[in-house]
Amino acid sequence: MKQIRISSTDRVFVLTGAGISAESGLATFRASDGLWAGYRLEDVCTPDAWERDPAQVWKFYSARRAAASVAKPNPAHIALAEMEASLGDRYFLCTQNVDSLHEQAGSRNLVHMHGMLNQSRCEDLCGVAPVHDTRVYESFDQVGFCKCGARLRPHIVFFGETPLDMPRIQSEIDQASVMIVVGTSGSVYPAASFVNWARLNKARTIYIGPEAPLNAGAFTNVIEGKAGEVLPGLFLVE
Ligand code: APR
Repeated sequence: MKQIRISSTDRVFVLTGAGISAESGLATFRASDGLWAGYRLEDVCTPDAWERDPAQVWKFYSARRAAASVAKPNPAHIALAEMEASLGDRYFLCTQNVDSLHEQAGSRNLVHMHGMLNQSRCEDLCGVAPVHDTRVYESFDQVGFCKCGARLRPHIVFFGETPLDMPRIQSEIDQASVMIVVGTSGSVYPAASFVNWARLNKARTIYIGPEAPLNAGAFTNVIEGKAGEVLPGLFLVE
């Protein structure tokens, strides 16, 4: 496959989705056997679901914690960490994923716009920072409380809530001359519109995944293949 050049003046913004962790054994959302297969997302990933049945919400995220605890980074995570090591502060990673596989691969300059599986936070956002929490709760009684007395909930951005770190993300997109998007179906906003923001600034935009995403038309290049097979060696950093 022809290599894609990253010049010494380029700034690279990377967006990843569930597909980059698929080869690490973590299910994506919208595949027929994906994470939503046994659930309705309205029951586990909305503020209403949390109000109605927090035990069910914790059951879903505890199962995801259990799966994530044994997953290891794959060659795609490692290729991105190596790109960061070459580009330094001309590289920025925004992931929609709540697993920690990018960090485990060595990525440092990144944001998790949809939250993190290994943290819990006050359900009332009282101001106490999210706490490190990797427990797989067997029952809802085991779930702890914030210092303020409210319940702890997963530090996950539910549908209808505002993604995290948006000002920083916007600023990084504004500066990017290359946007690389990996393993996301292009169906969840605002992430699905990042490619359009990048195009406004004339950035080159490249998608990598086994099938074209819903927003494929906004990309300069769509490279069809699994991230772990395509990403290593795809970019030539000058
Ligand atoms: N390499 C790259 N991409 C892959 C691979 C792979 N090995 N396997 C699957 N994919 C692609 C699929 O083709 C699909 O386009 O990953 C994408 C996964 O899409 P979704 O399941 O919709 O996941 P994502 O786009 O990350 O979902 C966005 O939706 O449910 C919410 O908050 C959740 O962050 C999530 C958001």
